Amino acid sequence: MQSNIRNRINYLRKELIRHNDFYYDKSNPEISDSEYDALVRELEQLEKENPIFFSSDSPTRKVSGFPSPSFESVKHSLPMLSLDNVYSYVETVRWYERIKKSINNENLEFIIEPKIDGVSASLIYINSILVIGATRGDGENGEDITENIKTVKDIPHKLEIENPPDFFDLRGEVYIDKSDFKKLNEEMLELNGQNFANPRNAASGSLRQKNPQITAKRKLRFFAHSFGKIHGKQLEKQSDFLHYCQKCGFQLQGDFKVCRSLEEIVGFIDIMMGKRDLLCYEIDGLVIKVNSLESQKELGNTNKSPRWAVAYKFPAKQATTKLNKIRVQVGRTGMITPSAILEPVILAGAKISHATLHNFEEIKRLNVNEGDTVLIERAGDVIPKIVKVIKKESEIPFESPYNCPSCNSEIVKESEVAYRCINPECPAQFRRHLIHFASRGAMDIRGFGEAVIDQFLRKGKIRILADIYCLTYNDFIVLDLFKEKKTNNLMEAIAASKKRPLSRLLFALGIRHIGEKVSEIIAKRFRNMDALFAADIEDFTKIPEIGGVLALFLKRFFENKAARRVIDALISAGVNMTEPETAETGRQFDGKAFVLTGELENYTRKQAEGIITSLGGRVASSVGRKTDYVLAGVNAGSKLEKAKKLNIKIIYEEEFKGLVKTN
Ligand code: IVH
Repeated sequence: MQSNIRNRINYLRKELIRHNDFYYDKSNPEISDSEYDALVRELEQLEKENPIFFSSDSPTRKVSGFPSPSFESVKHSLPMLSLDNVYSYVETVRWYERIKKSINNENLEFIIEPKIDGVSASLIYINSILVIGATRGDGENGEDITENIKTVKDIPHKLEIENPPDFFDLRGEVYIDKSDFKKLNEEMLELNGQNFANPRNAASGSLRQKNPQITAKRKLRFFAHSFGKIHGKQLEKQSDFLHYCQKCGFQLQGDFKVCRSLEEIVGFIDIMMGKRDLLCYEIDGLVIKVNSLESQKELGNTNKSPRWAVAYKFPAKQATTKLNKIRVQVGRTGMITPSAILEPVILAGAKISHATLHNFEEIKRLNVNEGDTVLIERAGDVIPKIVKVIKKESEIPFESPYNCPSCNSEIVKESEVAYRCINPECPAQFRRHLIHFASRGAMDIRGFGEAVIDQFLRKGKIRILADIYCLTYNDFIVLDLFKEKKTNNLMEAIAASKKRPLSRLLFALGIRHIGEKVSEIIAKRFRNMDALFAADIEDFTKIPEIGGVLALFLKRFFENKAARRVIDALISAGVNMTEPETAETGRQFDGKAFVLTGELENYTRKQAEGIITSLGGRVASSVGRKTDYVLAGVNAGSKLEKAKKLNIKIIYEEEFKGLVKTN
């Protein structure tokens, strides 16, 4: 019996160490968070009941993770700890009562904050300047990721505050908003057939890039939640710390509450559970903390976690169902991806009948096939994913396709995960292309959806893009559910789409990696299609937002003969090829890059940023050769100095106010 228990404890310790490696260091966990938590809880319970097997090396006693040797190591000013978890109201009440007993104060306050699903980082500010950004690592030593940290928009390089602390080890969570995560995953899937399992892995993977330029593109965000050593500033409460961070230039994460009773705590947990899906970032629970920093000190820490805080973990959004079919799809650019059709099941209030399978490697890794019973999990807005197989139907593995399911041409394996059909005439790709061409951000042909497109394709009425503009009344009136009014509306919508500006047309053409934003930028710069055909790579790279890779894709597209034919046919059909001079293009700060420094008297930083972007400009966080203007307020520091050195135009608040007024 004893040896069984010892074996189980050893097994759990080994398993947890292995999963920690996947979770923290490879940013690519093998199991879901709730399965991980279940292993931790089982081990904790066994260790509690069997103290003879105590080990100070157990993963339950230590902060997980290792600093990777590919980054310089940084010693933390104070250890970066982990949090203990509770999973129910009962456990929360027990924790609350323990705290109340330890701290003899009738008016003890608590603060509840969202537990954002990201990666923790420590930011060292010395005399207000950000000098080091580090990961948690093993809790004692982290990885030096300063250059990557500096690309995170929410993180000020200088604390915009009078009398800053001489030393400030500010800690918080680097994360990615749900919508940016979704976009990033779509782009990654399109690019190399791989993507991140959840927003936390996306944040962690992006933050630990060797090339900070990649991190810079990932739209990472930051929220301050704790601190290590601080010299030269007295703070009394955690809530004061949060507001102080806001004054220093950080975003205030508004979804927290100071509570004075158990009822308030439980009430706020309820509110946040209901709000969870509405938040624009992913949370996996809440963190309940003693608000007074003095009381926190009194309670102290264990080796692994503070006694003054606990994480209230939300129930996992998981369910079991049958995988009916593995569907193989062809994307607009020929990428072949599998997806799972499920027996419909209710998961966290929504009916789920599809799950992502990412790529064919993922199918192998899960060893999943049609007919199997699977565990699925949903995180926020993300399409549910299959966590693992619960019951196998047969041992035959799923066979990855060799031929395109649409045109049957041989699939090219660009990598283990990226399968592509490279037949330019593949009907499935063309169908997806038509859907994209007519979509809202593109040519915006209302009513020209999948059902209509499919009927025209079946009848052979559309073979090239320009055929859309050759359809006649007689072609529409015979479609399913079409009468005179619907026909006329759609014909009008098609005619109207001919007048769309060049920016929309460029996006509609579906050039690889060229999204809505880049299409707009290049249309405004080149103004007409002929200029684009005549442009060289250097003409593209001169645009600040366009790097070498995008320039290459653009050049490749415009020198391709098939692209020329597509566009010539659209010209013959009467489609506009120019970008009009709109009020938008004549905006005050069109294409100009601003950097803000110091405190403005009449505007908050957010307002100033909003004004600049609404007038066509963009706001960057650091001064460089591509900066056009530095907007300087009072107490402007090193950015102003740098701007002077680089001879960059400096605008002070009065002048800025004047410019804005004239608009
Ligand atoms: S307080 C433990 N507050 O959760 C030291 N942590 O599982 C004090 N986290 O490592 C941390 N949101 O990275 C704190 N509002 C929040 C948090 C939060 C997310 C992370 C943090 C910590 C992990 C523990």
